[in-house]
Amino acid sequence: MSQQKEIVVSGIRSTGNLHLGNYFGAIVNYVKMQADYDCYFFVADYHSLTTHPDPKFLKDNVFRVLAENIACGLDPEQVTLYAQSDIPEIPELYLMLNMLAYKGELEKVPTFKDKVRQQPENVNAGLLTYPVLMAADILIHRAVKVPVGKDQEQHLEMARNFAQRYNGRYGYVFPEPQPFNFGSELTKVMSLDGSGGKMSKSENENATIYLADSDEAIRKKIMKAKTDSGPGEPGSEKPAYIASLFELMRLVSSAETVDTFDNAFQTGTIRYGDMKKQLAEDMVAFVAPIREKTIALQADEDRLRKILKLGAEKARESAGRTIAEARKNIGIRYY
Ligand code: TRP
Repeated sequence: MSQQKEIVVSGIRSTGNLHLGNYFGAIVNYVKMQADYDCYFFVADYHSLTTHPDPKFLKDNVFRVLAENIACGLDPEQVTLYAQSDIPEIPELYLMLNMLAYKGELEKVPTFKDKVRQQPENVNAGLLTYPVLMAADILIHRAVKVPVGKDQEQHLEMARNFAQRYNGRYGYVFPEPQPFNFGSELTKVMSLDGSGGKMSKSENENATIYLADSDEAIRKKIMKAKTDSGPGEPGSEKPAYIASLFELMRLVSSAETVDTFDNAFQTGTIRYGDMKKQLAEDMVAFVAPIREKTIALQADEDRLRKILKLGAEKARESAGRTIAEARKNIGIRYY
């Protein structure tokens, strides 16, 4: 029964296109979790307002990430999939938690300090209280597990602090959410430029494969990936940029294909041009169906609207129960 499953919450950023690093680093795991947990996954559209996005594009962004995540395998029948802004209980809890969050601790958060450096002309209060909104996202469903990357762990620690402070002052409502670690299954996808960095949207776009890339774009990016003239001595070690091509191949090609090229490397007969051609074709075969599904979903706005509506209904049921208790404990109940 769904009531007995552990509750999981995670927010999906609505800015930027998803890439292979997002897919293998996070989405695959969301998809794996959906059967075993009571999952609430939402598009964090309120969070995106900190940078004042153009209203013309907000809906497209929300629909795009929604379509992309469903195309990757999230099942809207199985998980509760919704837009943050459809749940008024979230800003209500955010307001309550803001009274328990201190200016000093918020100013110390590294992601806030980064933003101050990046956009000194727009250091708004929403930016400062970003971790409070994130805590409200999580606590509103009384989640116990939150699948997030390392960069979000401090935010999660703050959510635990706010939960503790609320519980201590007003009585127990919120369990303390723990980061959900995928352990060794968490796959890092390296950039194609041989820099040793992760594939990411803020790094080199030409070294990042997006789920929306055309077949041609994928082929071009892979054929441009850094290689060299081949292994020197038989049995020599793979340089990092070659190792990451093999890693990519392991993700999208058959085990046989990987073995063939691995053996060719070991015996010093590998031709990187051939390897990249093969990798490009296997990557195209992997990405194209996700891209096409995304495009088809984006064209079916009715379906996306229905998914959002259903998700909002389910999420509000859970959020409503939590907020009623949170209000009652604070003493907000006058008639
Ligand atoms: N801050 C997260 C990120 O940048 C997104 C997010 C917002 C989130 N609210 C959340 C993640 C709640 C997990 C739980 O990726």
